[in-house]
Amino acid sequence: MNDASPLVIKRSDYVAPSFAVSSVHLTIAIYDDRAIVNTRLEVSRISAGPLVLYGGKGMGIDRLAVNGEARKLKDIDTSSGEIAIDIPDEAVVETVITIHPQSNTTLEGLYLSGDMYCTQCEPEGFRHITWYPDRPDVMSVFTTRIEAPKSMPVLLSNGNLIEEGELDGDRHFATWHDPFKKPSYLFAMVAGDLDYVQDSYKTTDGRDVDLRIYVEHGNAHRTAHAMDSLKRSMKWDEDVYGLSYDLDIFMIVAVSHFNMGAMENKGLNIFNSKFILADMETATDGDLEHVEGIVAHEYFHNWTGNRITCRDWFQLTLKEGLTVYRDQEFTADMHSRGVKRADDVALLRAIQFPEDSGPTAHPIRPEEYAEINNFYTPTVYEKGAEVIRMIATILGDKGFMKGMDLYVSRHDGEAATCDDFVAAMADANDVDFAQFKKWYSQAGTPELKISREYGEGTLTLKLEQSLAETAAQTATQPVVIPIKFGLVGPDGHTVPVKTSEAGQGADTHTFILDEGKGEVTLYDVPEGAVPSYLQGFSAPVKLSSDLNEDEMLHLLGADKDPFARWDAGQSLMIAALTSDDMDERLKGLADGLTKMLADPDLDGAEKAQILRLPSQVIVEAAMAQPDPYKVWCKRRNMMLELGHMMDAPILEQLHDLAERADDLSAQERALYGRLIGLAVLSNLDGAEALAGRMARHQNMTISEGSIAALNQIDGEARAEALAEFAERWADNALVMEKWFAQEASAPMVGTPVHCDMLMLHPQFDANNPNKLRSVLSVFAAMNTPNFHAEDGSGYRYIAKHIAEIDGRNPQIAARMVLPLTRFGRYDDERKAMMKGALVMIKNSHDLSTDLSEVINKALN
Ligand code: TRP
Ligand code: ZN
Repeated sequence: MNDASPLVIKRSDYVAPSFAVSSVHLTIAIYDDRAIVNTRLEVSRISAGPLVLYGGKGMGIDRLAVNGEARKLKDIDTSSGEIAIDIPDEAVVETVITIHPQSNTTLEGLYLSGDMYCTQCEPEGFRHITWYPDRPDVMSVFTTRIEAPKSMPVLLSNGNLIEEGELDGDRHFATWHDPFKKPSYLFAMVAGDLDYVQDSYKTTDGRDVDLRIYVEHGNAHRTAHAMDSLKRSMKWDEDVYGLSYDLDIFMIVAVSHFNMGAMENKGLNIFNSKFILADMETATDGDLEHVEGIVAHEYFHNWTGNRITCRDWFQLTLKEGLTVYRDQEFTADMHSRGVKRADDVALLRAIQFPEDSGPTAHPIRPEEYAEINNFYTPTVYEKGAEVIRMIATILGDKGFMKGMDLYVSRHDGEAATCDDFVAAMADANDVDFAQFKKWYSQAGTPELKISREYGEGTLTLKLEQSLAETAAQTATQPVVIPIKFGLVGPDGHTVPVKTSEAGQGADTHTFILDEGKGEVTLYDVPEGAVPSYLQGFSAPVKLSSDLNEDEMLHLLGADKDPFARWDAGQSLMIAALTSDDMDERLKGLADGLTKMLADPDLDGAEKAQILRLPSQVIVEAAMAQPDPYKVWCKRRNMMLELGHMMDAPILEQLHDLAERADDLSAQERALYGRLIGLAVLSNLDGAEALAGRMARHQNMTISEGSIAALNQIDGEARAEALAEFAERWADNALVMEKWFAQEASAPMVGTPVHCDMLMLHPQFDANNPNKLRSVLSVFAAMNTPNFHAEDGSGYRYIAKHIAEIDGRNPQIAARMVLPLTRFGRYDDERKAMMKGALVMIKNSHDLSTDLSEVINKALN
């Protein structure tokens, strides 16, 4: 398929299905070398046309019968992965097929993860299990019978267990029935020898829900945090959205081989074990918060995704953007709202902004795709969540909840569209969102320019938006941008924002810019007051303002909006990093950061966050023709310089934290991690020895933070700490992923040859996506000196592995190739080397649809 471009599916080509499926009866019989799947569909006509069933490419069929009458198999062409059959208006369609989960390395459909059979059906995996109208607007009631050897005592599927029993030949079966209509992508089954932990939850209307987390034997003791997270999620969704769980049992299964984070299958979530098995000994505080957020995300999908699903895959952000927004708010409520917001914005800028300005740019609701798996992106998820957040900002929390209530009552049990969602928001609040909807159809990150004009006691803000053309070539018209701002007085206190002479004023004001240009005049503005723009990051835009360095420093010291305060620091750092006189600029910054470190109003996590430099890609994006290695050196120098300039307060706080290491709060541990990093890099007195000692701490946040600090420099202490860590955790496959990641990201040590050695380690498994990511993706994303090596060897190294991985797991290959496509503003020589690596992949074999879509976009 090398040069023929794969079939492109367009959003505008949507046609409703000809048949509804009122019920599905599946029997999946598992044997050592295959599985036999019997499927019985009751279908009825909606409109003219054949019944279209999808199957995996090259999938056969052993029997097809309509109303009891077998069709001739030689008349059925299964080669395209699609069969269209003419049938009466009401029919029972039966199929029998044989599949081979034992040799399925794609990790979609039915496959083996270790000794456990499991499934991944979203978005189009179900068609690899049986022939089916595998599209999300076909919703049906599923009854699933699993037959397997008794060596696999646990047999699970969606819904409620209705029957189980013995079979001949040391086999047994279990039958599950899910009363809720669902699309096939939410189907799941699991079979294996599993342990589980059990708990329960009482809903607000008094129903008891049985909660279970299934794990491989030996892991049950690491599930308490995940279970707790689940119960908190269930409670939060009831309290905040009024949405309760709807079945009598909720199950989570942790599997080691999984392409993504987790999957929201109805009543039977399947998780990457990395996001379930986590406690303070094996996971960092950051990991634990992430686990909690993913458990919440999948649970929240029960309403935003499952009860109301997507009509077609172009609507993916309908469930993902909304559910990410919900999990972000959950985490904000559980922990620190300000810290969570800055974390999310840093992530958006680091992974979504580059996507929007690169060859794979697309709107949050894409217009076309060759492979839908390639559209589970930061744009659909994270920018999608920002779009939902803007709706909430514009409508206010009450208005947003009114819209949610209407959305749920209108569409419960349906497959809906993004238009349906926005219509519910607009109708419930009697507002017009016609122009707002451009956020759904336009790719690219709008740029927002703000300039000031002072009058007598007045300040006029002039706002201007623009949107550059992207690779997606969508329209570039003005969007609706809510801009929340405030004023920080010269004494640091909040000055009321008055947008009319008579008005009272409020701490903040949200200006809605819905044209190319706009302006707003503020009254009674005292001299020396500094405007704080885009508070809470009220819109996903790139802001350039005319604030000078002193004004930014003022915000860094006093802004009450945690996001704006953090962002002032980020802007100052970017300005220093991209200037020719960095050292000059660092004095003011170090001074501001030293004051910040002593501020009793900030906790350790906030301080750690402010001290974190903007990431490599964010700095590159602020430059005209960045040299990645030079940017890397400059960031490193800046940390080193700051470490020297702030040595006394850093060491003082560090020693205090280290002394109390056993009793620190998570916030304090975050600060410890940031300070030890600066101290080791700057070679501050005793820092290396301290990190070496703390690397052995029993708390993973402290241990890994210390190792990461040592990992920036080459030497004995680093080597010793990593070797000790590897020995201590040799038997824990998940913790060893941390070790792989440290080794692969080490700037001096982590060369391609070293990565190849890592992949020979007994805990490495080339069929396990976590392991591949912990070496190869970490190398490409975090090891700038080696990935971006001057001679192109880093690019060719990654390319070689991607070509090989594509044969086993196309989804992973297509994700892993993305760093090679981000050559945007590099010089011609580097561009040519990166493109050369892509051509090398392209010429290596017949690419999967996944990988060819990405590579063709990048090379065109
Ligand atoms: N719906 C899942 C989520 O957002 C995403 C997901 C899990 C997925 N596994 C996948 C998407 C495999 C594509 C392929 O939580
Ligand atoms: Zn999701």
